[in-house]
Amino acid sequence: TNHLLSDYTPYPFHIHTTELVFDLSPERTTVTSWLDFERKTGAQAMVLDGEHIELIAVSLDEVALIADVDYTVNATQLTLHTLPESGVLSIITACTPSTNTSLSGLFTTGAHLMTQCEAEGFRRMTYFPDRPDVLSTYTVTLLADKAQFPVLLSNGNLVEAREVDNGGHMTIWNDPFPKPSYLFALVAGQLASLEETIEHDGQSKLLQVYVEAHDVPKAQFAMDSLKASIHWDKKRYNLPLDLERFMIVATSDFNMGAMENKGLNIFNTKFVLAHPDTATDVDFENVEAVVGHEYFHNWTGNRVTCRDWFQLSLKEGLTVYRDQEFSSDQLAEGLSEKAAASARAVKRIDDVSNLRTAQFAEDAGPMAHPIRPVAYEEINNFYTMTVYEKGAEVVRMYETLLGRDGFRKGMDLYFERHDGTAVTCDDFRAAMADANAVDLTQFGRWYEQAGTPTVSVNGTYDAAARTYTLSLTQNNPAVGIELQQASLLKLPLHIPLNIGLLASSNCGSIQVGDDLPLYLAGQTDAATGTLPLSFTEASQTFVLTDIPCAPVPSLNRQFSAPVLIHFNYSDDDLNFLLQHDNDAFNRWDAAQQVYTRCILNNMRNPDAAVFSPTQLNTLGELLHNDDLSPAYRAQLFTLPSHAFLAQLISRVQALDPQALHAARQRANDALATHFESAWQLLYSQLNNNQAYVYTGAAAGQRALKNLALHQLATANDDTAVLVQNQYNTTDNMTDRIAALSIAVNHFPAAATTMLADFYQRYANEALVIDKWFAVQAANSHVSHNAIAQTLNDLLKHPAFIKPNPNRLRALIFTFCNANPHHFHQTNGAGYDFWAKHVLDIDQKNPQVSSRLARSMEHWRDYAEPHRSLMQAALKKVAENQTLSQDVREIIGKALG
Ligand code: ARG
Ligand code: ZN
Repeated sequence: TNHLLSDYTPYPFHIHTTELVFDLSPERTTVTSWLDFERKTGAQAMVLDGEHIELIAVSLDEVALIADVDYTVNATQLTLHTLPESGVLSIITACTPSTNTSLSGLFTTGAHLMTQCEAEGFRRMTYFPDRPDVLSTYTVTLLADKAQFPVLLSNGNLVEAREVDNGGHMTIWNDPFPKPSYLFALVAGQLASLEETIEHDGQSKLLQVYVEAHDVPKAQFAMDSLKASIHWDKKRYNLPLDLERFMIVATSDFNMGAMENKGLNIFNTKFVLAHPDTATDVDFENVEAVVGHEYFHNWTGNRVTCRDWFQLSLKEGLTVYRDQEFSSDQLAEGLSEKAAASARAVKRIDDVSNLRTAQFAEDAGPMAHPIRPVAYEEINNFYTMTVYEKGAEVVRMYETLLGRDGFRKGMDLYFERHDGTAVTCDDFRAAMADANAVDLTQFGRWYEQAGTPTVSVNGTYDAAARTYTLSLTQNNPAVGIELQQASLLKLPLHIPLNIGLLASSNCGSIQVGDDLPLYLAGQTDAATGTLPLSFTEASQTFVLTDIPCAPVPSLNRQFSAPVLIHFNYSDDDLNFLLQHDNDAFNRWDAAQQVYTRCILNNMRNPDAAVFSPTQLNTLGELLHNDDLSPAYRAQLFTLPSHAFLAQLISRVQALDPQALHAARQRANDALATHFESAWQLLYSQLNNNQAYVYTGAAAGQRALKNLALHQLATANDDTAVLVQNQYNTTDNMTDRIAALSIAVNHFPAAATTMLADFYQRYANEALVIDKWFAVQAANSHVSHNAIAQTLNDLLKHPAFIKPNPNRLRALIFTFCNANPHHFHQTNGAGYDFWAKHVLDIDQKNPQVSSRLARSMEHWRDYAEPHRSLMQAALKKVAENQTLSQDVREIIGKALG
């Protein structure tokens, strides 16, 4: 069924308190609930959600109700026809965690029982109004065998723990903060914990990270990240930890990254466990970000929650923005002003390239939707890059428009108005507007329109008048579902566009490449290098005055708006920006534009040199420029992703994925060989046997070092010795997996023994074995036949029996999403592989199969034979009678 934003109606009852008793066992868990309800208005029946559960009994104020008389029940709902104004409704249900392979609701993971309720998992345990606007105060009793489940956790504060008869025990938990059912959680297991008590906000707070006993040595970094998050939210937003304790629990079997259940965050092990022996720098960075993200939800999501799931970005966009800022502050901490700015730019570049690769693509395909969707079939399909990452960009634009203090005022007012309630994105926008006495009506269109807007820019310099005139035009054509809305009118967006002008020659005291001081006609105070323009019309002209010489514009600095910029830069202009732009983000972006242009040219003209001598000169200077941090230089020398380029190409012509892969490869080879001696020098300088420590600076050095090693491997076969040596002697996973990956792609003979060694070393480390699968699935250098053989072997590998979601992502998703050369082989074998696995996984876990289903949504962009082969594979999946609602929605939209 299709759910529509416009259909929203409030729930006709309050559920003031919810008492739950869980009698836990993997084969049969019974749940008894007592719901203290009160009718709001009207005389409607009470409709409760419930799925895949057995109804045992229903009573009202302790009097049994009669089936088909007092209530009716079907596969998804329990309807109570004649309820009084208020009372206590009690329901007994049963479910089977051990057969719940969907990982939604109550499921078994290893020897433990855990829950995942967002978005609609609570209804798999008991009948309840399972929607985010029904807030209730929960008291939860957990009963289980003590030997089997020594740890029993739920949300909030622990009220009581004691033993009961027959080797059982129980705990009682109370969460004083009203919450929707999606924030409920319980954990029953054999878990060890790392614990610390901190003084915070005048109280002592117990912090716990629960993991399997053998993983305790890997939990300290998550604990440190939690402490840093608590500190940051208090300092930056004056938001305290509001419970006596805060718990994080890790599970290997999880559909997503982590979940912000009140006081009891449940995490994929991938985002908790971090130790230099088993986790890479990127893993460390992700653990810190995700721990922060879930903790920050405590206010943005939990204390103030969403009225309905269309408002998901209210909590996700805001919380992603907050975790991005947290990570940025963590990287900058303790650095000089200059180093801090550069560290922040590195983080911003990572976030933006992620957005441009994955979210822009989403926005250009059949799943395109505004950050606040207006319709969905399956809400789990809308935990998207758009809702999360574009949502975060929209929040960031408030900050850009209102300033840091103005944004903080808006946040303060938001909590003042809405604490303890379920609200909409409009409420957030109103708080920002009212706190700053500004009109953000037009800004609201960012919540309504899908698609990536294009901003086309023209600049003209008038030497006599000393003016530079920027003419801007915005364009955001209908995409995705919007194409079916015939009367749709997409009005102009309010775009905050940060710009700078660089002097293209010496004039007066201004040197070539300097930022010109910028004035807007009639406005004299903006004498900074970067001028924020507020671009609100379909077409608009800005006249910048007192410009002493012809400039080169630097547009959308810091990526102030999530748009595509079109400006007719000459090769020389781009080269100039690459040399001179003092906005670190835009300097990197100039490199991306150079690479993009050169790769696209080379696709048309494969025999010509990829880069001009001028471009190579400038790049060479940057590679040697020690004023630029290693992390930043590693980013400067990373080509735009295949997916990003594919999406740009498909805007203008049918995409040949093999031609793109080959051209991108030639660009990379050109950088590898032209700078071989520079890579050699960098590698020897950076490969300095310093003991591993995770800091942004150290991670940046390793990133540049491993890029250098990779480039050397491309340029020179003798590199095999260096690769083998790094693999053998390193003290950390970052360097070891980098060496392994290089060997797999470039030195197959060495790789065979390294892969065997790696598997043996880490056989008991599931997350590391995931890397072992992923490295092989991503191999783009062997023949199609060889990769097919590898995939076959890996699918039959003992470590791939009953794969969990992480393992599926490591092998199947990596191949389908990160190995375009082999996935898009022209005989369609990759597409058949995709179809088979979508169908297999869908039998067990629709949330995971549905993600995989999306790998083919851009089929219309491809040239033949790909287009037809992809369409055929999609149709084959569509024909299947038992498809989940999740996959059906994705395939349906793709085939349109
Ligand atoms: N709220 C969680 C987070 O962003 C993610 C939950 C995803 N749920 C889902 N059904 N896909 O941290
Ligand atoms: Zn979130």
